[in-house]
Amino acid sequence: MDSFELNKIAGAVLGTLLFVMGLGFFSDAIFSRPAPKVAGYDLPAAAEGGHGGAQAATPPTSEPLPVLLASADPKRGETLVKPCATCHSFEKGGAAKVGPALYGVVNRPIASVGGFGYSDALKAKGGNWTFEALNEFIAAPANFAKGTKMAFGGEKDPKRRADIEAYLRSLADTPVPLPEAK
Ligand code: HEC
Repeated sequence: MDSFELNKIAGAVLGTLLFVMGLGFFSDAIFSRPAPKVAGYDLPAAAEGGHGGAQAATPPTSEPLPVLLASADPKRGETLVKPCATCHSFEKGGAAKVGPALYGVVNRPIASVGGFGYSDALKAKGGNWTFEALNEFIAAPANFAKGTKMAFGGEKDPKRRADIEAYLRSLADTPVPLPEAK
């Protein structure tokens, strides 16, 4: 091998290196990406309601009652009132138990079953059992009527309450029309 041949080899090697560097330079120029402002990955925004844990304990934000009622299921409600049935009858002409009979309760005046010994708290409320009133009462009886005799902690899930109300509504010869969902 003479020096001329060595030069050719060296030239080829250097040429290749230059070519590769040039490629890198051009591809950087062509495919350049803006550097992220903050190092790290973009994660999808946290789901509405935030960071699980702490927030999961608070009741879920809910759609308005008329919207929930529009899609409520009386059949589901019927299974959800099992705990109520210890104290309430649901059939037409049913007798009072620990609590008053609930057939036809929707739009019935509050505390109006003759002969039933209502608490003063419930008697003092006035008005009818509208869907709104039932919703509040079933959510937290003692908040709705401080001193009520209904010893029931309350159903916290708005969807389940809507199902329960849909069932209560069905317990009537002519069910009350559902409130209009705006
Ligand atoms: C431990 C017994 C008990 C349970 C369980 C119970 N209730 Fe009651 N409920 C009562 C009593 C007692 C009253 C009367 C309250 C008063 O006079 O303050 C009442 C009153 C009511 C009234 C008012 C009726 C009227 O004539 O004004 C409604 C509506 C009602 N309950 C629905 C329910 C529903 C729905 C459930 C289940 C989610 C339920 N209750 C669970 C005992 C109970």
